[in-house]
Amino acid sequence: MYGLIHMAIESYVRSRHGDAVWSRVLDAAGSPSSAFVSMEAYPDEVTLKLVGAACGTLGVDVPTALREVGKCWTVFVAEKGYGHLLDASGNTLPELLRNLDQLHARINLIFPDLRTPGFSVTDERPGELVLHYYSERAGLGPLVVGLIEGLATRFNVTVDVTPFDCETPKPHAAFKVRWAPVAA
Ligand code: HEM
Repeated sequence: MYGLIHMAIESYVRSRHGDAVWSRVLDAAGSPSSAFVSMEAYPDEVTLKLVGAACGTLGVDVPTALREVGKCWTVFVAEKGYGHLLDASGNTLPELLRNLDQLHARINLIFPDLRTPGFSVTDERPGELVLHYYSERAGLGPLVVGLIEGLATRFNVTVDVTPFDCETPKPHAAFKVRWAPVAA
């Protein structure tokens, strides 16, 4: 995956656990330095090794770590100069979720080797919808849960995300998303 993802993992570990813990994660990953280049596409094995090392060092399981990184992602990418892409993709949680393919199509112009995930929205009702997620990578469902939770913080709503398996038109992960304004 792109180095930008590695930098998000680094930012999460450093901000929550400090620089010394991040050094231990790099040692455990067998990585000589943390000089990940955001625009460089690394083999997925490198990303998985880093996630595995972070989980081993912090004593959390992989789904928990992915969800936490997902929660931090929107703030992280905004700090890295991609906030305008989020701004242009929606002013509310449902609007942004509807525009995720358009958002990644724009990101694809900046990151040409992106293995773009696919999203679609169905079953829209007031305060709820179903988000469908198509990926060539397995096991990233908890990342999507965290991403939706991070977006909810951005839009000042509370959210409840329930993952389920959807079989049509082909097997993929789906998420029932329910939201409500944060109580004043
Ligand atoms: C400006 C904001 C964003 C940027 C710059 C961005 C960028 C990226 C990048 C660089 C990747 C790595 C793909 C690769 O290396 O092949 C990625 C993957 C991914 N992104 Fe985004 N993204 C953004 C917003 C979002 C949001 C809001 C979601 C919410 C669901 C999201 C969901 C995902 C998922 C699930 C993946 C994993 C890819 C896979 O399934 O293979 N992204 N994104």
